[in-house]
Order: sequence, then C-alpha cells, then structure tokens
Amino acid sequence: MTFRRLSDVPGPTGLAAQYSLFRRRLEMGEVLREISQQHGDVARVPILGAPKVLLSHPEDIQEVLATKAAAFRLFSQNLLRKLFPWGVVATEGPVHDENRAHLVLAMRKVLSRRVPELTLRKCRQGLSSFQEGQVVDLYELTRQVTLAMSAAMLFPSEAEHLLLGQIDQEAFLRIVSNVNGWFLGIPTTLQKLVLLAQLPHTLKIMRLRRRVKGQLRETIQKVQAMKTGGPPADVLTLLTEGSEVGGPMPAEFLTDNLMNLLLAGYETTANVMAWAMWEAAHREEVQTHLAREGSRLSPDPEQNIEWINNSPWTDATIQEALRMYPSGWALARQSLFEFRLRDYLFERGTVFITSQWVTHRDTRWFPQPGRFLPERWLDGSSQLAETSAAATGTGEDPPPREKRHPFAFFPFGGGKRFCLGKAIFDFEGALLLGSLFREWRLEPVEGCHPRPRFYATMLPDRQPLVVLRRR
Ligand code: HEM
Repeated sequence: MTFRRLSDVPGPTGLAAQYSLFRRRLEMGEVLREISQQHGDVARVPILGAPKVLLSHPEDIQEVLATKAAAFRLFSQNLLRKLFPWGVVATEGPVHDENRAHLVLAMRKVLSRRVPELTLRKCRQGLSSFQEGQVVDLYELTRQVTLAMSAAMLFPSEAEHLLLGQIDQEAFLRIVSNVNGWFLGIPTTLQKLVLLAQLPHTLKIMRLRRRVKGQLRETIQKVQAMKTGGPPADVLTLLTEGSEVGGPMPAEFLTDNLMNLLLAGYETTANVMAWAMWEAAHREEVQTHLAREGSRLSPDPEQNIEWINNSPWTDATIQEALRMYPSGWALARQSLFEFRLRDYLFERGTVFITSQWVTHRDTRWFPQPGRFLPERWLDGSSQLAETSAAATGTGEDPPPREKRHPFAFFPFGGGKRFCLGKAIFDFEGALLLGSLFREWRLEPVEGCHPRPRFYATMLPDRQPLVVLRRR
C-alpha cells in the first residue's frame, strides 16, 4: 500500500498564511476552526518549526490522545517544564505515572472526606455579600469562589488563610495570559527569540512566576510546621505523609504538584462557570429551571450528592458551557515514531493538534454549535427542532448524547493525562449554579459582549458584567 505524506495534507501554506495566523493569534481557536472547515479533518497548520497537523475527527483524536498515547510526547511544555519541572502537568513516563498515582489517591480521599461540605460552604460565603441591583463581574465572582475552594482542598483548614493571603491573583492571571495560542505552537528557539525581543515584559513575568512559586514554598513550610488534628483531608498533608502508593513526596515534587493543582483547577473552573452564568443570563427559561433545581439544594452536604444526580438542567447547562467554552481549548502531541493515520504516513516529530474548540463546534456532532442550548444534553434531545436533522445542515440527525463518539466532546482531555480534577469540578460547578440561581436572577448589562481570547486557557476579552435581581 502506498501512503500519502505530510506534503499531501491540505491546508494553508506560505509566509502570508503564517503571518495571518500570527496576527490572529488571540483568535487561534477560530483560526483552527476555519482551517478545519476549509481543508477537512486532517489539515496542515502553518506555524513555524516542526510540521503541525490539525485533527478534527473524534476517531483520530482518540487515537492520538488515548489509544496510541504511548507513541507521543507532550508538545510545547517547555514553559511549563521551566516553571514546575517535577509537577504532573509537565512530566512524562514513569515520573508522570508516579506523580499521577499519588495525586489521584490524595484527591479521592479529599473528595470523599471534605469536598461536599466545603463546596457548599465556599459557594455560600462567595455569594453572601450580594445586594439587589449590584453589578457583578461573573469571572471575578467565580475566581473568588474557586480560589477559596482550591486553598481549602490543598491545605488543612487551619492554614487556608495562609495560601489565600499569600498568593497574588493578579500574578497568576498574568502568567496564564502571557502564553497565547500561537506561542504554544512555535519551536523553543523562536520562543526564546520572542521572549528576548520583549525583554522588559519577559523579565516581569519571570519575576512574577518566581514570586508565586516562592510564596507557595514558604506557605508549605509554614503549614508543615503546624500541628493539625483529625484524619488528614487536604492534599498537602496527604502527600506529605505518604500513602499505600508510596512514601512522602519530596519537597520539590510537592511544590510543583500543588502549583499544578492550583493552576489546573482554579482558573479553568472559574472560566467555564463564568461563561455558564453569562449564557444563562441571556436565557430566562434556563434561569428558571436552574432556580427550581437550586431551591432543592440541601443544607446537608451529603444529600447534595444525590441532588447533583437529579438536577438535569444544572448538568445540561454545565455540559453546554464546557462544549462552547472549554477552558483547555487545544492539546498538542508530538510523535516519537513514524505514525500511520488513515492513509497517511507521518514522520517522527510531527505535531498533532487536537482542539476542543474546533470539534465541539462541529455541526456533525452539535447542530447550531454557536447557540447556547442546554436542551441538547437532556433526554430526548434528538427530537428537538433546534438540534435535529434540519439544523445539522447535513440532512442527518446528530447522534444522541449516549451514542455520540466519546471524543466528539472532550473538555477534560482523554487517555493517560485525563483531567485529575473532573470529579471536583462536577461538584463545584453544580453547587455554584444551584446556590446562585436559587436566590438571584441575572440581567445582562447592555452593551457588554465579552468574547473568548485564546491564551493558555480561554480568557474573556472584557469583564462579563450582569445585574443581580433577587428572586
Ligand atoms: C472546567 C474545569 C476543568 C477543565 C476544562 C480541565 C481540563 C483539563 C484538560 C483538558 C486536561 C488534559 C491536559 C493534557 O492532556 O495535556 C486536564 C488535566 C489536568 N487537570 Fe483539569 N480541568 C478542569 C478542572 C480541574 C480541576 C478542578 C483540577 C484539580 C483540582 C484539575 C487538575 C488537572 C490536572 C492535575 C491535570 C494533569 C493530568 C496529567 O497530566 O496527568 N483540573 N484538565
């Protein structure tokens, strides 16, 4: 059999295409979507350096992220590796596996011992000071709650305030927004040149990174010197003590992994939930359903596990926000060997880009992808006019939720690097929506139209503002 090669892959090429991509780097998700629409499920992306191929079909995505994951390494983790070389997010092979095993166990224990109670308390605290008619920045609101939640999960309750008092939120956000989509795709040497070309800015970011990491290291030492009572129910103590997976985690691994959990868990969750609230603010009937379900929230945290399973609109609203605004919007992998995909044979070193933004907005799986329709996640959704054959543009009904390919919707990634915090997010997201909408109705502020911008995560280009009205 003769295979096609990289040069046969369709896609924009040449300097003009490269320049256009650079110019539109903050719209990177949309640029990739246009490439996929024009050139198909396997398409070239004109970013300098190693050849880059965008895969938009769920079957190909599954192959790279999950089925054949061992044949790939992370791509563009250079920055992450510099920041936290020993953390789960940047490591590979056995070191990654070991980090992951420790974290999975610690987080499972925290989830069962504390998360239901903690989430309810933090959501209530976060929403307690609101007043009728107040204008609220939804992203600021969700960030406050998810940061408090992260601090409470990672540290013993006696020490939460240490983290909250010490971590500089602005520094955190600046670190995230310093890395844009285009930057993630370019080779290390060019990255260095870009960083050098904007030296004062680079130095500032490096100082910020050092400060955040130093603050965290200091906090850990203080906490370890404290005496805490009761069975451990925070990630730091559990990792410090060791477990059935292995002995105590060494100091440099501890700092980097905690930093990873903070970075991976706090802003991503805040981001998606701010978009969920923002979109709900524009659909009165969705808010009514959320309020009705929220009114059944129990003061007993354990009861709320059941509540989550019986609140279909809350779940549907969150799934729809994850579909439209997946905060992790692209994942890239570089092949370690020659790689066969369809009738192509790709050289070792080829980079494969998969993008949640692109695949989640593909009309084959999600008709009317630009519309916020939580209905598509409810039972019987394939009968809905908005999401049926007429709306796909292909004349075919989209697959119902339970038959959809698992990688047509992959906000939490897949395979051996699947998100470690999904179960925690499920709790936080649902309780945040329930607690907010049971008491408040949101009115959009006129003229306020935030759009996502593609940095390391997807940040809104302006504050998503709403007015609060008491129910
Ligand atoms: C809306 C919320 C979230 C989204 C959309 C999200 C998304 C993702 C994605 C796409 C990955 C895969 C990265 C890759 O394959 O390279 C990932 C990994 C990860 N996530 Fe999440 N995440 C969320 C919340 C959380 C939370 C709450 C935590 C922790 C408390 C967390 C911790 C992690 C960690 C540690 C990894 C790295 C796993 C590994 O490399 O083995 N995430 N997340």
